[in-house]
Amino acid sequence: MAEAKNLGVVGSGQMGSGIAQLGAMHGLHVWLLDTDPTALYRANKSISSSLQRFVSKGQISQAACTEALRRLEYTSNIDELRSADFIVEAIVESEDVKKKLFIELDKITKSSAILASNTSSISITRLASATSRPCQVIGMHFMNPPPIMKLVEIVRGADTSDETFHATKALAERFHKTIICSQDYSGFIVNRILMPMINEAFFTLYTGVATKEDIDTAMKLGTNHPIGPLELADFIGLDVCLSIMKVLHAGLGDSKYAPCPLLVRYVDAGRVGRKCGVGVYDYRKGSEPMKASPRL
Ligand code: NAI
Repeated sequence: MAEAKNLGVVGSGQMGSGIAQLGAMHGLHVWLLDTDPTALYRANKSISSSLQRFVSKGQISQAACTEALRRLEYTSNIDELRSADFIVEAIVESEDVKKKLFIELDKITKSSAILASNTSSISITRLASATSRPCQVIGMHFMNPPPIMKLVEIVRGADTSDETFHATKALAERFHKTIICSQDYSGFIVNRILMPMINEAFFTLYTGVATKEDIDTAMKLGTNHPIGPLELADFIGLDVCLSIMKVLHAGLGDSKYAPCPLLVRYVDAGRVGRKCGVGVYDYRKGSEPMKASPRL
């Protein structure tokens, strides 16, 4: 496949907006699609301020920032993705919703286009089987936030072709990322290891072993993690963490992956983390530090 020129990104939340920004910074024309116009508005704002931070740190010039912004288009109309060479899906972590989107993308995109999913845990093989081009479907799992984090985990489905793999690897390298490859098993590499640790941190809080602050401090100062597991869960989104635990539990069939009831409860209460202002911690301006009991 020739080098991709046009990138489509579906889902303009935390991940999609960062992936779109990366594409625009590295010379691709980008369509960022979301069904929710408010999400597109937020993405526009966050991409502009992130690019400005790159400028103020001297990492890109003001001209490069302006060029990147010019290469970005925001849309709610899926037909605009017709001319994309490469599409990265970054919508909600639900297999049913993603499958519906892949069926639609398969219909409207050009036959040579590669359809990649940024899924954290869902089977690439099953997403691919919803399309008529399983050899052109692949997992391209960016880390959060995509413009900063160095890693991209590439996941090959059962039928992913070598050509698709090499085109995906080339795109990630164009973004100056380090690549790792995973077989298509629930959670791949990163979340197979990370999410059970986060889930266990919730159990530690749930069973009253320690406060949230002490759990996070334990892992930061005791094991040299840059961020505690509960803070990290808030950053990722508790809804995303819960979805991934459910996929691990269903896909690997071991009760050790059962989501902690406290994690479920936070999500049921709409406390999904930083993106809504409150999760395990409270990020709302002027609010008292949250004194919620470990059992919510
Ligand atoms: P998010 O909740 O911030 O954003 C999801 C966006 O998708 C929303 O703006 C929503 O309006 C949009 N959306 C939902 N259904 C849609 C559809 N059918 N068509 C178009 N747009 C649609 O979610 P986030 O955190 O960006 O996660 C997205 C994906 O990336 C998930 O699969 C998640 O597992 C994965 N991921 C998340 C990471 C994280 O740290 N949050 C890290 C790596 C991967």
